Amino acid sequence: MGSTLVKVNTMEIKRTFGSDNFAGGHPDIIKSIMEANKGHVTAYGNDDYTKRAIDKFREHLGDVDVYFVFNGTAANVIGLSAMTKPFNSIICPETSHLNLHEAGAPEKYAGCKLIAIKSEDGKITSGQIKKYLNAIGDQHSSQPKVISITQATDYGTVYTLQEMKELADFAHKNNMLLHVDGARICNAAASLGVSLKEITAGIDILSFGGTKNGMLYGEAVVLFNRALTENFNFIRKQGMQLASKMRFISCQFEAMLSNNLWLKSAQNANEMAKLLAKEVEKLGIKITQKVEANMVFAILPKKIIKTLQDKSFFYVINEEIGEVRLVTSFDTKEEDIWKFVKEVKNLI
Ligand SMILES: Cc1ncc(COP(=O)(O)O)c(C=O)c1O
Repeated sequence: MGSTLVKVNTMEIKRTFGSDNFAGGHPDIIKSIMEANKGHVTAYGNDDYTKRAIDKFREHLGDVDVYFVFNGTAANVIGLSAMTKPFNSIICPETSHLNLHEAGAPEKYAGCKLIAIKSEDGKITSGQIKKYLNAIGDQHSSQPKVISITQATDYGTVYTLQEMKELADFAHKNNMLLHVDGARICNAAASLGVSLKEITAGIDILSFGGTKNGMLYGEAVVLFNRALTENFNFIRKQGMQLASKMRFISCQFEAMLSNNLWLKSAQNANEMAKLLAKEVEKLGIKITQKVEANMVFAILPKKIIKTLQDKSFFYVINEEIGEVRLVTSFDTKEEDIWKFVKEVKNLI
């Protein structure tokens, strides 16, 4: 998303609808960092914090390999690098972060062509993908190897378990792999009311989001398909994502995956999005996407957007029609919603 500056008055605590990464860290996460900040431990992940965090992932997800990285773009690119060769192509929705907001990093680092498929709601189906598989075996064409989807999607919608299974089965039947950008996987699981294990069935590699769900920074690449683990250490290091003070990413994940923190944070964000959508809709505002996670897409009267943004920042997605994206977070409170709704009411 384009850059903006939210002015912080030290006397005022401001919460916006810009994105879930505008939020700070959850107090339990901050506490975990303070507790990890004791003495010396071995660098580069050979430490107890990292071991415990990986064990937590295995408690939730089963027999997986886990590699921590700094950010979501890297999680995607590094995961995809392990799944492909440069002559492969990656099929994804045109709306995906991978396609629109990673400055060509997947193309540069994985070296693959992205095939971006039209999507109205952030999702794609096997029916849409089928025609691209005609290229398989043709030496003049890039070879489709990965289907990469976003869950929850970039439009705040959520694939059902059946839709996920259908895509995973389709990929595997065609000797392809399923990659999931799960920057908001916790929001998706909370939305469907399922466990992290259930929502990840059939996935080969998952980018598991931390930053958008109350961590300060840090994402995890989770390899369900352990045949892809070979050389992953080198791929991460060559991708410049091996943290030397790894314990400070690991401790955050351990906290997030303990005491249902991942779920409570995601549930709050999702509930606040539902409330926001319901209340602005009552004012005659059109909601353009199903509100299934922590994002609301809505069309606002153009004349009120700038004033409203100055009060509580959010992004405009489509200038022409005044479509905006409002994102809620683990720390969004009902009072933030009422304040925003009141502003909208006053301005229209
Ligand atoms: C769907 C999705 N994937 C990945 C990312 C991760 O991006 P970053 O590299 O900024 O951590 C984001 C952040 O906005 C996102 O929305």
